[in-house]
Amino acid sequence: MNDHRSLALATVAGVGIGAVAAALALGHGPFGAQAKPAAADARRSRSRFRAHDGASTMVVGCASNGEYFSCIDHVVREGDSVVVIRGTTDGTVSKEDDADGGRARAEGCAGAAGGVVVFEGDVWDVRALQALSAAAAAGPVSVLCLETSNLYGNDMLCDVMALVRMLRGVLAPTLRTLLVKSRAMAMHGRCFHDSRRVLALPPAQLRKVVGGGAGARAHVLGAIGVSDYRDTLALTVRGGSRVLEIGTAVGTTAFLMAEAAGEAGRVVGIDIGKLCIKRAQAAQRKRGGLSARIHFEVADAWDMAALLRLDAAFDAIYIDVGGLSGADGEFEALALVRMLCCTFAKSLRFVVIKSRCLRHHASEFTHAAAVLAEAAPA
Ligand SMILES: C[S@@+](CC[C@H](N)C(=O)[O-])C[C@H]1O[C@@H](n2cnc3c(N)ncnc32)[C@H](O)[C@@H]1O
Repeated sequence: MNDHRSLALATVAGVGIGAVAAALALGHGPFGAQAKPAAADARRSRSRFRAHDGASTMVVGCASNGEYFSCIDHVVREGDSVVVIRGTTDGTVSKEDDADGGRARAEGCAGAAGGVVVFEGDVWDVRALQALSAAAAAGPVSVLCLETSNLYGNDMLCDVMALVRMLRGVLAPTLRTLLVKSRAMAMHGRCFHDSRRVLALPPAQLRKVVGGGAGARAHVLGAIGVSDYRDTLALTVRGGSRVLEIGTAVGTTAFLMAEAAGEAGRVVGIDIGKLCIKRAQAAQRKRGGLSARIHFEVADAWDMAALLRLDAAFDAIYIDVGGLSGADGEFEALALVRMLCCTFAKSLRFVVIKSRCLRHHASEFTHAAAVLAEAAPA
């Protein structure tokens, strides 16, 4: 057994009992998690972040220690089995500044009926994680706190996504919430949305969720089906908008975009299929007025240099290309969205992507402020 593995298992065996004993003796955690008033308890139990449908795990990005600790208070409930992972993603043991990280906080919330174990080792070691899961004193793991030091502050989104996928596989189906202490993940959770959920928000809340002045990051809306995809135009396109549609086919949605963008607007539709673009251009010739605002061109979604030559300042980009919808499309879709967000960062406000897996992704990944807003008194 290597050093990391033995350290991890030793920690599992030692801390589980210690944590429960400490919680029994104190009744609350050393970070001050006291018994909650009844109204707060009622709010906590209604929260979608505390309920579990058994089908998905809510992944919450926390941008600071404060957010992370407050989220633990909100999501960990009495009797929960909690795992805190404090290794690093490169297999070395982390040296955290905060002596006890989330462990003490989680102990206070899980109480005597629950249990908290700490894993300090190679986060990618599936066997060690399985052993840890089997050894968890309070039964199957329901909350996982990922506070590996080299995720925090670093921009390692794809690593975290892959890690989240692996951890869910190992700890399924009981895992309710995965808290990730990572600024990059918090920003990710803030920017990815289920298009239908966003469009259903009342105006004041909508402004809070997708508002943001120049220089703010683009919001990414995951849509399923052509009508969800087109419904978002009401939010994203206004008079004067500059819109790109990637995978425009014969231009049906692009013409709707041109109507919404008005005379001052501009729409570019690209497609990898030459025949599609010929047909789109033929349809364009038949339409008098709208025609001047639209440009169709053959281009590949991944060719950022070609897209930049078309216009360097799109404020909305729509993506509707095949292969990005199934479960295997998630990383590819994320990579494309990432490239577009970086390339057009100065002007881009919205990306809409027709992709089942990204809609699913968007509804799973959230950020601490959304969780804590639910916890706040009305
Ligand atoms: C479902 S159709 C688009 C329908 C259209 N957006 C609409 O709303 O009417 C998907 C299109 O994506 C195009 N496509 C697939 N891969 C592409 C790529 N790498 N770059 C650009 N277009 C691509 C296909 O040629 C196809 O025309």
